[in-house]
Amino acid sequence: MRPVVVAANWKMHTGPDDAGELARTIARRTAEPSVVRVICPPFVSLAAVRDALAVEDPRVAVGAQTIHHELQGAYTGEVSAPMLAGLATWVILGHSERRRDAGETDALVGRKLGRAVEAGLRPILCVGEQLEDRDAGRAESVVDGQLRCALAGHDPAGLEAAGLVIAYEPVWAIGTGRNARGADAAAMAEAIRAAAASAGWPGGAADLPVLYGGSVTSANIAEFLAEPAIDGALVGGASLKADEMAGIVARAGLTAQARLGPESAS
Ligand code: PGA
Repeated sequence: MRPVVVAANWKMHTGPDDAGELARTIARRTAEPSVVRVICPPFVSLAAVRDALAVEDPRVAVGAQTIHHELQGAYTGEVSAPMLAGLATWVILGHSERRRDAGETDALVGRKLGRAVEAGLRPILCVGEQLEDRDAGRAESVVDGQLRCALAGHDPAGLEAAGLVIAYEPVWAIGTGRNARGADAAAMAEAIRAAAASAGWPGGAADLPVLYGGSVTSANIAEFLAEPAIDGALVGGASLKADEMAGIVARAGLTAQARLGPESAS
């Protein structure tokens, strides 16, 4: 049975002075034990969020927003996977803003994936098509290509053991207030599992968690979680608002409890 995950991508918001308080408030407002919660602040705020969550609710995990593909060296401004030891246990990889602004290619994302797994970080690998791809009817082939390239050369069983999560984030839906339709996102989630299965993922990739991301809010999360193929959300803008996170995680809790069966409701 796949977990239900809500991951907060704070992007370039919050510094060490305010991140801890926001993390604490969100943890308090989202205390839903059946949902896997992750908060991904900027690097400089990882320690503050870690410390705040250790006190408020250690079940909320801390994630980074990227890592470098090398372990160390002359890479000004970069942070490698082993440097996150003690700071983060998850990492977002291949976010479309990194692909756009930092020139990350699928092959580079694949190298980062290897570094994350070596360092014991749980990866959230982002994939998603541009609007022109969807309009031209090639959304699934674009995402299939991104996934295959990033997974190439990795042992699928090792990635599964590392708890790899895929986030399907159509680029045209990120930060725009536009959403994919739930049915389209679900079809893509199944296409992602099919691509992983054909790349050798164990068990036909039935256990591979796939999140939806792109302008998710408390008002639209239900449309995505109504789809059995979708296992949660990667949330950007709305994840900076405790009220929004409370609504999103509450809805995710309904799905998680339904998956666990009737006994879990008590
Ligand atoms: P958004 O961002 O929710 O603000 O659209 C999602 C993401 O980029 O992960």
